Amino acid sequence: MKNLSKLMEMKQNGTKISMVTAYDYPSAKQAQQANIDMILVGDSLGMTVLGYDTTTQVTLDDMIHHGKAVRRGADDTFIVVDLPIGAVGVSAEHDLNHAITLYQQTNANALKAEGAHLTDFIKKSTQMGIPIVAHLGLMPQSVGVMGYKLQGGTKDAAEQLIRDAHAVQEAGAVALVLEAIPSDLAGLISKQLDIPVIGIGAGKDTDGQVLVYHDMLNYGVERYAKFVKQFADLSVGIDGMKQYDKEVKAGAFPAEAHTYKKKVLDEVNKNDTSN
Ligand code: KIV
Repeated sequence: MKNLSKLMEMKQNGTKISMVTAYDYPSAKQAQQANIDMILVGDSLGMTVLGYDTTTQVTLDDMIHHGKAVRRGADDTFIVVDLPIGAVGVSAEHDLNHAITLYQQTNANALKAEGAHLTDFIKKSTQMGIPIVAHLGLMPQSVGVMGYKLQGGTKDAAEQLIRDAHAVQEAGAVALVLEAIPSDLAGLISKQLDIPVIGIGAGKDTDGQVLVYHDMLNYGVERYAKFVKQFADLSVGIDGMKQYDKEVKAGAFPAEAHTYKKKVLDEVNKNDTSN
């Protein structure tokens, strides 16, 4: 398993870090088999597997449920689990209690928290021994306030983002996710920070990339952001199910090959006659 020092070493060597989301046992197993460096149990699961419009309805219990399944599927991969909306950012005691619960229950390697306002939480959590990955730029939990659009696109916004990135690093964040920001800004921040910077919609000059499983494999997704590339096509499952439906209706499935050969009725009849 890649640990924090290995991830740091990768940054220092210029070896790019791959991260993908996973939400359940099979997707986690696939990510581990593919030698992905880090798995994110993102609260994007609200959309990808629970069918909500945004991440804002995802609860701590949802994250615990899916985080546990992912850990069972990927026992040897660095796993980051998202703190959902409202889990942190309220008060020190409230925030730490939620972080401890999520960290312990999922056996994650780190938790991820959205927003620059969480520096106190990052500090306290780090002191407690819970590593935090910060998330800046487009923050899906704040969609009601900021919408889904490029962040850091003006001089003021870019300067603020640079300050925020330094602030989360100083607070103790072990890595930073930057979402939907101009690639030159992401490259500069990645160069300036000591911690690994993982981009999504942030160009190629970050220390690594993260994509959502369902987006990159075309699995049940209807709308794609500009930054998504499809690396495989799991919609092939629909063709498989259409064929299954046809064969069931035609009586072609199950065939001999899918049928247990043992005959039992002779036995039943024998017993019937002897009774
Ligand atoms: O929830 C998620 O999947 C994320 C990624 C988009 C970075 O936060």
